[in-house]
Amino acid sequence: MGSPHITIHQKAFRPYLSAAALDEAVTALAARLSADYAGREPLFVVVLTGAFMFASDLLKRMTEPCEIVFIRVASYEGTASSGVVQEILGLREDVQGRHLVVVEDIVDTGTTMHQLLPTLLAKGPASVEIATLFSKPASLRHDIALRYVALEIPNDFVVGYGLDYDGLGRNLPDVYVAV
Ligand code: IMP
Repeated sequence: MGSPHITIHQKAFRPYLSAAALDEAVTALAARLSADYAGREPLFVVVLTGAFMFASDLLKRMTEPCEIVFIRVASYEGTASSGVVQEILGLREDVQGRHLVVVEDIVDTGTTMHQLLPTLLAKGPASVEIATLFSKPASLRHDIALRYVALEIPNDFVVGYGLDYDGLGRNLPDVYVAV
């Protein structure tokens, strides 16, 4: 028996990805990252808030030594994906010469990552890659290399497993899609 439809802020969502399906995709991604970063002590840069649940599951499956920091990106207020990243909050570590892996919940238009990457690169890391739970290829508007994607999804609005709809839904263990 599947989980029922839910309503968030008067908007209907239907079950889309189960916790088990998410776990499978996240486990596979962690295996790739563990292999690729063996011996390099990567620094995972987790973008709050949406990536918190994904990052927790992903990073506890890393079999190689790694470091973890949490950042926020401060952007202009505006429509959901049009904010301009002004600064990175919380990155006190010296990232010079480090292998960085940015952990994101979802790359939609790619605007957030497009603006964050130059800011990170300016700090002199040895490398920067992106690990994202979801990407929406049909929605991508920037030429950014997404090497680590757990799941590609259509251009629909999803909620749960860290992702919110106007503040609600982040705690849901499954992912739902707007109907
Ligand atoms: P981008 O800058 O367009 O790539 O948007 C990235 C951000 O938009 C994500 O970090 C989310 O906060 C938000 N976002 C985009 N699509 C969704 C969605 O389907 N559900 C919840 N948040 C989303």
